[in-house]
Amino acid sequence: MVMRYLVVAAAVAACMGGAAPAGGQSGDTDYPLFTADNLDEAMKGVGRQFSLLTRMVDAGDFEEAKVRVTRAREQLAPTIVFWRKNAREDAIGMVRAATRSLDDLDAELSELAIDPAAVGEALATVDAACQACHATYREPDPAAAEAFRLKRW
Ligand code: HEC
Repeated sequence: MVMRYLVVAAAVAACMGGAAPAGGQSGDTDYPLFTADNLDEAMKGVGRQFSLLTRMVDAGDFEEAKVRVTRAREQLAPTIVFWRKNAREDAIGMVRAATRSLDDLDAELSELAIDPAAVGEALATVDAACQACHATYREPDPAAAEAFRLKRW
């Protein structure tokens, strides 16, 4: 399937793009590759795609939903660099689990005869995978309503 290869290529490209010179974070002595700011930016993108994805699934527009899954994956996968850099083994596992859950959802959306119930289940699994990490590593940002920040360990 051509799409699969495009996804991988795009993820690699996004990963390279992630080396943008951000302000860096306190405690970072090495080069500023995938800083907390990069993570914040990536998460905002993943969140945008995820809410569009949910809306498309609700509307039964599975073709467009599949496009959103691809975009969400492209933006989520490179965030593993942040957790590797900070040696957070549990978070690395959670990025992998969330990425895998997006792949499973992609597979459901690629069926010839799409089963809406199976799609719904796969979507709920993605949501659970996102929340698993948020429960540990995300907290409300006291500086802004309805915003989040990295919870330090
Ligand atoms: C391995 C950990 C991890 C996984 C997996 C993860 N996130 Fe996040 N997410 C974070 C952290 C940490 C933050 C807070 C960073 C920040 O916003 O500065 C965050 C923030 C967010 C935000 C708020 C951004 C903002 O500041 O407004 C959204 C939306 C979001 N994530 C969506 C998702 C979705 C959707 C998934 C699953 C497809 C997901 N995340 C998976 C760790 C994770």
